[in-house]
Amino acid sequence: MPDNYACRNDERRVVMFAGKGGVGKTTCAAATALHHALLGRRTLIVSTDPTPSLSHIFEVGRTPRANKVPQNLRVEEIGVDRVKQMWDEKFGREVYEVFSSFVDIGYEEFVEFVTEVLPGMRDEFMVDYIRELALKAEYEKVVWDTAPLGQTLGLLNMPSMLGKHLKTAPRIYSRLKLGADSRRSVLDIIKGWEELSGTDMEFLRHQVEFVIVTIPEALAVEQLDDIFAEFDKHQLMIGRLVVNNVIKDTSSEFLVTKARQQREYIDLLQSRYPDLEKVELPMFPREIKGIDRLKDVGKSLFQNGE
Ligand SMILES: Nc1ncnc2c1ncn2[C@@H]1O[C@H](COP(=O)(O)OP(=O)(O)OP(=O)(O)O)[C@@H](O)[C@H]1O
Ligand SMILES: [Mg+2]
Repeated sequence: MPDNYACRNDERRVVMFAGKGGVGKTTCAAATALHHALLGRRTLIVSTDPTPSLSHIFEVGRTPRANKVPQNLRVEEIGVDRVKQMWDEKFGREVYEVFSSFVDIGYEEFVEFVTEVLPGMRDEFMVDYIRELALKAEYEKVVWDTAPLGQTLGLLNMPSMLGKHLKTAPRIYSRLKLGADSRRSVLDIIKGWEELSGTDMEFLRHQVEFVIVTIPEALAVEQLDDIFAEFDKHQLMIGRLVVNNVIKDTSSEFLVTKARQQREYIDLLQSRYPDLEKVELPMFPREIKGIDRLKDVGKSLFQNGE
């Protein structure tokens, strides 16, 4: 049972949507960002999913005038190339120097490995990027859409693990000096990562509200315990649980049966997590795309108008 529920008056500037694949994270994130923007807040929605779909959902560049993204809402998708570039600017060479001191690998190949193959490193970097965005006063609300959970947060502790591992052979590594133009030792650099990782973790703990999205089906409900455990382990604050795709229309026997089955899982969620704020999002008959439909989703998500 998680004990890291938010109290609602703890309004956090960054809200991150997490949950398993395909449950509606991006849809909820987009509707939430639109909701805040329509309340007049300078809002940023940023996707760190390697296959983002925000511009598709917001119909960026394709909509008639009346249906446009509000001016105070910025939509940002960070693709793999952009990640590579940002990574390169911020840590690339330094991390490469450490790795290449014991692994024979070319720089290009290394950057590709880190940003595409090692999801933990990518996420760690993304957390840092979002933290920097949140430090700027430019936005009043930052909505963060992520890749399916498991790829998120999983390797947040990587730098400290790496540090711990390397400390088992301090005499070897402490003497390792990097290239001629670098005066720092491998251990110094790793210590720097550990500190950065700590700062990012503090940011996640104190400034980010996590919204978990799920659907009322056996597998999704079963997986929630693991998701909560992971958040608990890192002492992250879960603001609310969105139960998506809830069938409200019971005009046919098929729908009645389906709705009844869903209700069992919703009741189960209630009994397992009685103190967690839950919001049910109905299953809409049409694909959720465009400002008008996102507004409808927002109405369901924010019934009290917060
Ligand atoms: N309440 C809903 N009613 C109808 N369709 C929905 C609803 N919520 C989401 N969808 C649709 O389900 C599909 C998946 O939603 P979405 O992309 O938001 O999920 P996701 O969790 O972000 O997926 P991924 O894990 O792949 O990033 C989309 O086509 C979306 O339009
Ligand atoms: Mg998504």
